[in-house]
Amino acid sequence: MYGATLNAPTPPFVEIENLHVTFAARRRLPWRQAAPMRAVREASLSIAAGTTFGLVGESGSGKSTIARALLRLLEPTHGTIRVAGRAIATLQGRELLAYRREVQAIFQDPYSALNPAHTVGTIVGELLTRHQGLRPGRQRDASVSELLGQVGLTPEYLHRLPRELSGGQRQRIAIARALAVEPALIVCDEPTSALDVSIQGQVINLLMDIQAQRGVTYLFIGHNLNVVRHISNNIGVMYSGYLVESGPAQRVYEEPAHPYTQMLLAAVPVPDVAAQRARAAQRRQHDEASTSAASPAEGGCPFQPRCPEARDICHQVMPEALPVIGGGMVRCHVAGEQSRRT
Ligand SMILES: Nc1ncnc2c1ncn2[C@@H]1O[C@H](COP(=O)(O)OP(=O)(O)OP(=O)(O)O)[C@@H](O)[C@H]1O
Ligand SMILES: [Mg+2]
Repeated sequence: MYGATLNAPTPPFVEIENLHVTFAARRRLPWRQAAPMRAVREASLSIAAGTTFGLVGESGSGKSTIARALLRLLEPTHGTIRVAGRAIATLQGRELLAYRREVQAIFQDPYSALNPAHTVGTIVGELLTRHQGLRPGRQRDASVSELLGQVGLTPEYLHRLPRELSGGQRQRIAIARALAVEPALIVCDEPTSALDVSIQGQVINLLMDIQAQRGVTYLFIGHNLNVVRHISNNIGVMYSGYLVESGPAQRVYEEPAHPYTQMLLAAVPVPDVAAQRARAAQRRQHDEASTSAASPAEGGCPFQPRCPEARDICHQVMPEALPVIGGGMVRCHVAGEQSRRT
């Protein structure tokens, strides 16, 4: 696909360059000037074909916003997203339809994505009709059964309704449905966060088996670094809209450079996502209600108020991405300085 030049480096399958997404301000308190929400700032990452990029970070840090931009569900304020070498913002008409097929998504709550009135056979079969022209009937049911087999379910599930399935089974149906269109890229936005820990592992293993068989590329968003590490070749850590660290999964996990990544790892396991969400919502409300001093000075590192290592410069300047020994980058004055010294 990329031409026949020998030894030419293969361009990454997904390339996100300097992505910014800013949401317009919602003014909740009439006397306050509402600031626009800068959900993603200066984020760059790339994913090689057939590999997994894991994205972690606390609630509200911008993970889903990156996912939605990649799915073309929202328009970036600034920056470029290239998939298979093409800028997705320019896709139109047939090309855009092809993109919507090539790039599938699996979300946290599969129930809301499955039509409650339809059987599994219809839910998955509809996609085979749309994309492969298979009419409802025995042949289509056979193809659905094959897909069910690939996600570890027997053909008897063909006649089940979503409400008759467990959370893990629903997520398997969501995966089967994504596979029905033979995607090149699957954006997985916390597909296992709502599942029991024991089931999480099964779904992760299933996704990894599918990748080994089909060579599909994943952007995998998660809260639990232990889960994400298992499935990811590379990991990115987000804080307050910034990608503050990225690199090979093993390096990030074993030698985290950013103080925030170190804190995340020290807190492993982080099981209670619901409580984390509630806290984040509370914090946002508090920030909105209090006077402007709650957030760090514009231009400084957003992690500085929580950072045990913060220096003067951290209040004033957002650090650039600096290379880390062992691979990847870190955006931190202190960690960057250490990596330069060694
Ligand atoms: N459509 C929108 N309009 C305004 N603000 C938004 C919109 N979508 C997201 N945001 C805000 O942008 C920030 C990033 O949201 P995002 O959903 O990307 O976070 P996240 O990292 O996926 O969090 P979570 O772990 O809770 O899913 C949040 O502060 C959120 O409130
Ligand atoms: Mg999210």
